[in-house]
Amino acid sequence: MTSSSSTASPNGGARVELDDVGVRYPNAPLPAVDGVDLTIESGTFAVLLGPSGCGKSTLLRTINRLVEPTTGTIRIDGVEIRDCDATELRRGIGYVIQAVGLFPHYTVAENVSVVPRLLGWERERIERRVDDLLRMIRLDPARYRNRRPRELSGGEAQRVGVARALAAEPRVLLMDEPFAAVDAIVRASLQDEIARVHRELGTTIVFVTHDVDEALRLADRIVVMNAGHVVQTGSPAEVLEHPADDFVRDLVGVDAETRRLALERPLIQR
Ligand SMILES: Nc1ncnc2c1ncn2[C@@H]1O[C@H](COP(=O)(O)OP(=O)(O)O)[C@@H](O)[C@H]1O
Ligand SMILES: [Mg+2]
Repeated sequence: MTSSSSTASPNGGARVELDDVGVRYPNAPLPAVDGVDLTIESGTFAVLLGPSGCGKSTLLRTINRLVEPTTGTIRIDGVEIRDCDATELRRGIGYVIQAVGLFPHYTVAENVSVVPRLLGWERERIERRVDDLLRMIRLDPARYRNRRPRELSGGEAQRVGVARALAAEPRVLLMDEPFAAVDAIVRASLQDEIARVHRELGTTIVFVTHDVDEALRLADRIVVMNAGHVVQTGSPAEVLEHPADDFVRDLVGVDAETRRLALERPLIQR
């Protein structure tokens, strides 16, 4: 039995539009993000890919206003986010980071239900939601709901972070190198997990990584960044077969042919 009917966002994923978005940090010689035009269609799994320092996290954080752009506009389903209340906006957008950031003194259930409680959901609805989410990320509610974060493995804690981000049925989920700190085997299983969750919920996901294979494995659309600019957007196959320039060619690199073959036999159903 699947829990998708009770965990799905009722209205699928939001469309995210960035129009000439730029960010310059105070006293920085160059903008961290420069003139980014990007439309992420409803329900797309978009991956921002590029080397460390190219502006991926900065760009991601403009979408939930943890960073305010110095130029340009961002719309979610056509609504300019600068006209929204920032706190309310953030409650409607899931956010998962590498360091998880679970509250150590809260149980798993309390961690997962932080936003629904802030939103004033009724107790029974919250309990049901927590159990559905734990089942969705394949942690048995009876065994896990009352554990503390220190009683979880790294992979389990990361799953709880994903459940927490999804708790209030966000229509956009932002993920910043969420699986970078776990070992390769756990990472692969977390990747499968998030791909399945995306298929079930249809949430728009914007996922940051510097790992080419992770991007190829997860993305509907890859957004390649270099030095604050978007240098190419395309499907994994397009980026592999038609890199826009030498930078992208070097990034997908010597293994491009092997990677292209791997795409033809995906581990994950797309
Ligand atoms: N809060 C900040 N204040 C000043 N500079 C920052 C801040 N955050 C990031 N930067 C700088 O902005 C650039 C892009 O950083 P970041 O968005 O974190 O890149 P990435 O996530 O791709 O590694 C880097 O040069 C970084 O040093
Ligand atoms: Mg980063």
